[in-house]
Amino acid sequence: MKFLKEIGADFVFKTERRPARPTPVRPEPVSAVHPLPALAAPLAPPSKDIASVHEEILRCQKCPLAGDRTRAVPGEGNLATELMFVGEGPGQDEDAQGRPFVGRAGQLLTKIIAAMTYDRQNVFITNIIKCRPPNNRVPHRDEVEACAPYLLEQIKNIRPKVIVTLGKSATDFFLPDTTGGMTSIRGQFYAWHGLQVMPTFHPSYLIRNEGNVGIKKMVWDDMQKVMALLGKK
Ligand code: URA
Repeated sequence: MKFLKEIGADFVFKTERRPARPTPVRPEPVSAVHPLPALAAPLAPPSKDIASVHEEILRCQKCPLAGDRTRAVPGEGNLATELMFVGEGPGQDEDAQGRPFVGRAGQLLTKIIAAMTYDRQNVFITNIIKCRPPNNRVPHRDEVEACAPYLLEQIKNIRPKVIVTLGKSATDFFLPDTTGGMTSIRGQFYAWHGLQVMPTFHPSYLIRNEGNVGIKKMVWDDMQKVMALLGKK
């Protein structure tokens, strides 16, 4: 605890305690789509501006998730940022508000971002799918495929230096050929079309494993690598 405080990772133990809920049984993660051909190839220029992309997302009817949503959640933040966070998909709070990562996991993500000496407005936060899946289940492959062009257009417009992928679904989107779980994939940069992808654990996973300081420390180690690459430390 003291050590983590000293290294500035206060978010590690500041999460509010709630009674433990049973860990949901998660189906196999969606097998990743391969949105682009060669990993070494630079990203093509955007084909539309981000305002048009976000308008399209708000009107989107490309998959059945559109029928159940309250609001689509395009993402938000600084369009000129060097740092982007990509999660899995909107949950209940995000669906209600139309904003990404505003629920409990989002509050923790906001603390992590603050510990990195950014704030939410300085980075861009989004998800691989823009509408909430029923009961927050893992997105299906066809849903990820339908939504992929939106995320790719966001990335092409923003062109961050680093994309932090939060959890396995987001990591699979970018790194479909990596094998193993998050524990082995996380913590290193992967070159992705001229950008750097840093996979780390999803904030919900941290919350589900609240007493496990080791997991929090791993996330903080990963974020420190991102900070070092971006000249933040
Ligand atoms: N979990 C996610 O993956 N994304 C959100 O926006 C909220 C919770």
